[in-house]
Amino acid sequence: MLLTTEFTARLPGLIDTLAEQGWVVCDDFLHADEVAALRDEAGRRLAAGAFHRAGVGRAESQSVRDEIRGDSVLWLDPQQPAPAEQVYWQRIEALQQALNRELFLGIREGEFHYAQYPVGAHYQRHLDRFRDDDARVISAVCYLNPDWCETDGGQLRLWLDTEGRAESIDIAPQAGRLLLFRSERFWHAVLPAQRERWSLTGWMRRG
Ligand code: OGA
Ligand code: MN
Repeated sequence: MLLTTEFTARLPGLIDTLAEQGWVVCDDFLHADEVAALRDEAGRRLAAGAFHRAGVGRAESQSVRDEIRGDSVLWLDPQQPAPAEQVYWQRIEALQQALNRELFLGIREGEFHYAQYPVGAHYQRHLDRFRDDDARVISAVCYLNPDWCETDGGQLRLWLDTEGRAESIDIAPQAGRLLLFRSERFWHAVLPAQRERWSLTGWMRRG
């Protein structure tokens, strides 16, 4: 059974913290072997040329701008999950159901992509909501980097004040860690890393 009772038991605590502070870090959302399988899958598909440079802005106005964000992404296909992706979808689904049940967030679907940041790449301070689209409710970032050290950099900087100027915390992109935050509320940035940086990043949406 993929959805371990261990994870189910942690759900209420996660949801309480998210409700209280608007963000929560969940370590060991994925086990080391699950991370390794996902990282292999992502690496294979990057090598096969399936990723593309992430754009800035929406649809027709999208452009690639290194000074804003330097990652390459590949969207997951929920209809045809790779074997390594199944456990991820299952836990995310359980999380979405619990969030709807407990916090009435009205989440109807999720969109997720692998993201690969080459050495030195970053993502400038931003909000995950587009100006003309309020579908994204919760941002979910899951990290796929074993043995990440402080000196590797690449932290997610999350500003806690609403303007995104004053008070911030840095979260290391440690393997198996899941970060959740309210998409419309939290300014954040990805700091440059000394190592290639991998994640599975997505959004729980109203539909
Ligand atoms: C994003 C993002 C954070 C991270 O892709 O929008 O903010 O830590 N990613 O990778
Ligand atoms: Mn973001």
